Amino acid sequence: MVGARRSFIRETTIVASAPPHVPRPLAARRAGALRGRLRPPGDKSISHRSLILGLLAIGETSITGLLEGDDVLRTAEACRMLGARVDRLGPGQWRVLGAGLGTLVEPRGTLDFGNAGTGTRLMMGVVGGHGITATFDGDASLRKRPMRRILDPLALMGARVLSEAEGGRLPVTLRGSSEPAPIEYRTPVPSAQLKSAILLAGLNSPGRTTVIETEASRDHTEKMLAWFGASITSEPDGAHGRKIVLAGRPDLRPRPVVVPADPSSAAFPLVAALLTPGSDVVIEGLMMNPLRVGLLESLLEMGADIEILDRRMEGGEDVADLRARHCQLKGVDVPAARAPAMIDEYPILAVAASFAKGETRMRGLSELRVKESDRLMAVSDGLNAAGVENFIEGDDLVVRGTGVVPGGGMVATHLDHRIAMSFLVMGLASQKPVSIDDSTMIATSFPTFRPAMEALGAQFG
Ligand code: S3P
Repeated sequence: MVGARRSFIRETTIVASAPPHVPRPLAARRAGALRGRLRPPGDKSISHRSLILGLLAIGETSITGLLEGDDVLRTAEACRMLGARVDRLGPGQWRVLGAGLGTLVEPRGTLDFGNAGTGTRLMMGVVGGHGITATFDGDASLRKRPMRRILDPLALMGARVLSEAEGGRLPVTLRGSSEPAPIEYRTPVPSAQLKSAILLAGLNSPGRTTVIETEASRDHTEKMLAWFGASITSEPDGAHGRKIVLAGRPDLRPRPVVVPADPSSAAFPLVAALLTPGSDVVIEGLMMNPLRVGLLESLLEMGADIEILDRRMEGGEDVADLRARHCQLKGVDVPAARAPAMIDEYPILAVAASFAKGETRMRGLSELRVKESDRLMAVSDGLNAAGVENFIEGDDLVVRGTGVVPGGGMVATHLDHRIAMSFLVMGLASQKPVSIDDSTMIATSFPTFRPAMEALGAQFG
């Protein structure tokens, strides 16, 4: 059923064109053991989705523990521009008064997603399934990222690209379809963003939308759609894949969302504790969703001293506290099939591998080339700058660890928050400090990174 338009007062702030980017270099140095407890910020994937589902449900969705990073704030602004009222009630506490599926308004300005690929691609799905036109844009990093993978299936559903930059890049102007065709789509790459865009467009379709993935990607969209009342099924397909079927035009009901801690952000203090002599750190409330725990699995194979404590359910997700202590890691072979479950964690795994004894081979990393930066190159260049032997072979990254990292270099971060945080972690345990050319992008996903790490004993400056 399509919801009736509600008459909430709309905030129509139009994002002004961005001021020139001013990089802020930062260095990390060895300063002794890390100790204490840390709760990482809310999960970025779930934060984006909670706002978007709040937009599409009619009435009040309350969100606790929302990540207040730049990426998610851009999605909040886009939701406002599409007709929702979005209010911050307190730290991490947000309320979305949804406009309802089928009733979105055409935004008056460009939807500027800054650095956020997830916000852009999911919202392209939302717009693609509504009879409105919207222009999507972002920063220099986002403008380099491929959008064809999203625009192609949306075109099959009836959406039209009115303009795009060369090669299907931002800025893109998309005209959605008010009656998106139900499709069955096999995703050519394992991407939760792609899967989610199709499902979000399919929400407003009169029929069933089917997405088949050969390698299962994170399933937060499916879980949250079910939580908001959609009829959606997910079953195994092939050795590692899933088939997801969504019935269109559900009556989405607002539900409270509790956002668990982000395992992709937890990765930084977790690895920092393993690498820094004398460390003993507890990371609280880490989401243990099987499609997000690839890093943990890999670190345990490397011999990491990690204890999993107090497994429990929080906000519909399995969570746990992790106690990590310094230890000597060993090199491992990380299979390509694990990539979707740790796709954002390869930069920090490469840092861990640099301190390990022996060779670590990380297989099947082609998707790393189209993240916030070409992460395969950025990691390899960063390791070279810090004196770590490594090479790229096809889509594999091989790191030859000796147990000791010289450090001392300047790492180019290419507007990539995870490159920035990974190499700062390296500097906490390398012989000489490691510098990064720009720390500003850390605010996109882990705005409290520096004070949270300093509270454990890290030294930056
Ligand atoms: C995300 C999916 C992943 C991941 C990104 C968040 C999501 O991207 O890298 O940081 O929330 O759906 P892909 O879907 O492109 O693999």
